[in-house]
Amino acid sequence: MPVIAVVNRKGGSGKSTLAAHLAAWCARQGHAVMLGDVDRQQSTRSWLRRRDPALPGIAPWGIDQKNVLRVPTGITHAVLDTPGGMHGFELARVVMAADAILVPVCHSVFDRDSAAATLEELLALPRVASGRCRLATVGMRIDGRTRAGETLKAWAATTAVPMVSTLRETQLYVKCLERGLTLFDLPAAQVGADMLQWQPILDWLAPVLEPVRPVPAAAPAPLQPQPRVLQPHTPRPVALRPAQDALVHGARLTMLGARPMGKLAVVEEPTLPSAALGVHVPQMLRR
Ligand SMILES: Nc1ncnc2c1ncn2[C@@H]1O[C@H](COP(=O)(O)OP(=O)(O)O)[C@@H](O)[C@H]1O
Ligand SMILES: [Mg+2]
Repeated sequence: MPVIAVVNRKGGSGKSTLAAHLAAWCARQGHAVMLGDVDRQQSTRSWLRRRDPALPGIAPWGIDQKNVLRVPTGITHAVLDTPGGMHGFELARVVMAADAILVPVCHSVFDRDSAAATLEELLALPRVASGRCRLATVGMRIDGRTRAGETLKAWAATTAVPMVSTLRETQLYVKCLERGLTLFDLPAAQVGADMLQWQPILDWLAPVLEPVRPVPAAAPAPLQPQPRVLQPHTPRPVALRPAQDALVHGARLTMLGARPMGKLAVVEEPTLPSAALGVHVPQMLRR
């Protein structure tokens, strides 16, 4: 199961914005996606609560820094939003689960320094160093009237990590998030310039989101031509899938009161072993 994490030590760098957009993109592709909110502020969880149920569904994933829940059945993709200041063991634990990490970076010197420290720690982790977890940065909140974009690209060139795109500063992001939306949910004509900026990010993530499945060995050609059986077209689901629906409506997980930190009280119904379902669940997420 592809897991994308959004990481940066610095608060306000655009992690939740990026994570919400990535989850919405996965949902639009027809994936059964969960948005895991490791952030104690639970920003993306409250964003999800504002999201119109008629939009492509994204399931919440109530996890905190101490409890990492089992991935429920039916989920095929996960996006993890993480808190500022995350490092050490907690960071390593997220990296163990992730197939790709995006680090959003704003242009100020404080942002660049903080991102550099984040990258250094990430690059020292074996999963990243070996390339099993891909790593890239994304420039955030770039004001096109300033030299912020050039400054950030020059900084990125000094790192060992590619900066795959820069996203412009626009109130569209702020207004969308307030309404439980993303730019992907707006009419194409309204977000043309922004979609051009998103395309390199989505291209970079494509091998992770849509891994090429091994082609089964070719069967011997039949001696007689076989009649072709037409399969009825099955439209992609737009709303929540059953597993997501169960989560949203509390059938599988029940949150017993929100506590700011420490243990989240989560009642978990038994789920089928992932192996039986043919879903690969990272070892770390099975706890
Ligand atoms: N491209 C952008 N243009 C304008 N505002 C943005 C943009 N990206 C993020 N923001 C705003 O910046 C603030 C911080 O972003 P957020 O995603 O909450 O950061 P973090 O999760 O790292 O703390 C939010 O108010 C968000 O709406
Ligand atoms: Mg956040």
